[in-house]
Amino acid sequence: MKLSVALGADHGGFTLKNDIFKRIQNAYEVLDLGAHTFDSADDYPDFACAVAQAVASGKAERGIIICGSGVGACIVANKIPGIRASLCHDTYSARQGVEHDNLNILCLGARIIGIELAAEVVAAFLEARFSGEERHCRRLEKILAIERQALQESKKRSHDELQR
Ligand code: RB5
Repeated sequence: MKLSVALGADHGGFTLKNDIFKRIQNAYEVLDLGAHTFDSADDYPDFACAVAQAVASGKAERGIIICGSGVGACIVANKIPGIRASLCHDTYSARQGVEHDNLNILCLGARIIGIELAAEVVAAFLEARFSGEERHCRRLEKILAIERQALQESKKRSHDELQR
């Protein structure tokens, strides 16, 4: 079965997203979450959130988000519980990010990286698998614990605000 990949970009990443789509569409089950037309006034949080939610819900196994720098996309994606997103513009980080950190979303900056290197980074990311080694599982457990605690604290803050 083909690995499913959710793909998204704002206007800054629009052209690179379409190029990446063409390069991976035969080998992967690609879910293109937009932008579907170029709109210089669109906002990266909308597309980054759609991709992150698709991955967090299990609709897609991996995600790729592209904006101008990749930074905004990464900030948004990591707000969604269960997401481990990173900006990688080299193949070593993209591969090791999956093998060690179970990276599930790759962020790219279309104003920084060209299509050939981007395609190699995407290939490294999509071909890599989490190693499952004990030390990496232990570290991922710690990340989960931090995420759970932050969610609890934020719930408590909202609850306290409502009581005021
Ligand atoms: C849009 O102009 C640009 O700010 C956005 O694509 C991205 O680079 C944000 O991090």
